[in-house]
Amino acid sequence: MNHGFFERNSLVLLIGILIVVAIGGAVEIAPLFWVNSTIEKVDGMRPYTPLELAGRDIYIREGCYVCHSQMIRSLRDEVERYGHYSLAAESMYDHPFQWGSERTGPDLARVGGKYSDQWQLAHLNDPRAVVPESVMPPYAFMAKKPLDYHDIDAIMRANRMAGVPYTDADIANAVADLKAQADPNADGVDAFKKRYPKADARDFDDNPNEITEADALIAYLQMLGTLVDFKTYHADAGGNRR
Ligand code: HEC
Repeated sequence: MNHGFFERNSLVLLIGILIVVAIGGAVEIAPLFWVNSTIEKVDGMRPYTPLELAGRDIYIREGCYVCHSQMIRSLRDEVERYGHYSLAAESMYDHPFQWGSERTGPDLARVGGKYSDQWQLAHLNDPRAVVPESVMPPYAFMAKKPLDYHDIDAIMRANRMAGVPYTDADIANAVADLKAQADPNADGVDAFKKRYPKADARDFDDNPNEITEADALIAYLQMLGTLVDFKTYHADAGGNRR
């Protein structure tokens, strides 16, 4: 029989495997090159504001993703605990995305608005002050550390290269928008709200003297999962829109 030949020559077997896997891969991957979009457009999605983007970078820098996923699966226990399962479009501006299986801590895909800013701050400073059984480490330094945003426009440009539709005006006004979002009394709040409709502008860390890392991180946490209005979005269990 012919396969005896393959089984006795490991190199031939290896080449045979590569050919078969390549055919399977091509059949799965090639069609994606001819569809315009593999992500269904959903109302409400907008790129991150500069402050949220800075907060997201802190989230990644600190490795929060080691314990927290941001992907609610369409399984009953997850939907009952966290809310509507995540849509692909909800992470369309995430570079890198935060998907994956559930980890030590709860999924954060819809944590925005679940708690007050004060709760988030107290929790970051000392998780066990608000959740006695928590195993999350404290990040108290963030509320004291001024946010470094000198390269926020470059970070937005890098995101634009990856496909996030920031305009030239968004990038030119990055620092003004960042300051406006963290300080509702700043001059640029109206311009900021025009550029990022429905984004919240307030003093997230309750410290009006300084924009800290906690401002950025809490601004980011508080918008997670809040962009798509699920009262207007209906999908069946298979994820098809009706
Ligand atoms: C060692 C694992 C671990 C790391 C690292 C970690 N967390 Fe947590 N986190 C947890 C656990 C466990 C809980 C649940 C108990 C609690 O609320 O403290 C939690 C809860 C939370 C909650 C509340 C979620 C909810 O729905 O109640 C938020 C928000 C949160 N973490 C944010 C963060 C952020 C931001 C970082 C990074 C700066 C981070 N976590 C890093 C383990 C971790």
